[in-house]
Amino acid sequence: MTAIQTMTATQTRIGPDPDRNLALELVRATEAAAINCSRLLGFGDKNAVDAAAVDAMRPVLGTVRMNGVVVIGEGEKDEAPMLYNGERVGDGTGPEWDIAVDPVDGTTLTAKSLPDAVSVLGVSPRGTMFNPGPAVYMYKLVVPGLVADAIDIDAPLADTLSRIAKATDRSVSDLTVAVLDRPRHEQLVAEIRQAGARIRFLLDGDVAGAIMAVSPGTGVDLLVGVGGTPEGVLAACALRCLGGELIGRLTARDADEKRAIIDAGYDLDQVLTTTDLVSGNNVFFAATGVTDGALLQGVRFESNRITTHSLSMRSRSGTVRLIEGRHDPERSLLVNH
Ligand code: FBP
Repeated sequence: MTAIQTMTATQTRIGPDPDRNLALELVRATEAAAINCSRLLGFGDKNAVDAAAVDAMRPVLGTVRMNGVVVIGEGEKDEAPMLYNGERVGDGTGPEWDIAVDPVDGTTLTAKSLPDAVSVLGVSPRGTMFNPGPAVYMYKLVVPGLVADAIDIDAPLADTLSRIAKATDRSVSDLTVAVLDRPRHEQLVAEIRQAGARIRFLLDGDVAGAIMAVSPGTGVDLLVGVGGTPEGVLAACALRCLGGELIGRLTARDADEKRAIIDAGYDLDQVLTTTDLVSGNNVFFAATGVTDGALLQGVRFESNRITTHSLSMRSRSGTVRLIEGRHDPERSLLVNH
């Protein structure tokens, strides 16, 4: 093929694509949230951290060229003034999208100045995102794409670890498992130790943990344990873009919650995969680091600039962008003066 033929073929393949810039537009919203809430780093007030992130993200989302409905947001309308479930976001143009948003995954991490807090946003075509309903928590197993097909959610964890070790030409003792540091994981932690793998305890923030499990260079090989269902959907948005698999199951904390989940029509025995959580074929995900972490560096305030580190990606193209933003504190509209 001549150079001209190659160019023409590429142009034909690229074609018109009205959604192409959405992933980049979304980053502005996570950047704004991260900048504003990281002002409160170490102040000890997690509610103020969340409010600062929401306050900054909402107006920027309003400028994004999309017709979005919040499916995963800050809660029901009467509990949350902004970014509540069902709220319409975007400038209202174009096709409809489902929106999953967590202005800060890791409010306590930010309030206490601990690692791995991120601001995250996922978008998929309308009607393709799983609605958690009353299911607050789910069990999650996040594994790299290489082994995804061979994983059985009900198999002993030692078997899963052996498979990953074999597939990546390592021994189980070389593997690191990310687990939320919670009393409910005592048995799970004992199983991992018994198998001989290392543990990276997450104090909070299993969206970042899930992304780490499928991203090279983070030092994490899989994520396991019970975390928020909304965070599971957000993680699924990221995994649809990055590859890797989330295999999960809804869990109930007590009999009343179990009843409520079943009455709402959910099946506690169903194995949920990444595509069950986000089935659309055109999924977008953006994340910006709030505090320093294995995935992204946190926000830095320097003399004449504010620096952010973000991820922007899209499932259709598989493009993953790492974006360093340098924001002028006086001129940038993303910075809340
Ligand atoms: P927030 O930042 O919204 O408080 O959530 C953090 C988080 O750690 C999630 O990443 C995780 O899925 C969930 O909370 C776990 O819930 P819990 O703290 O109740 O175990």
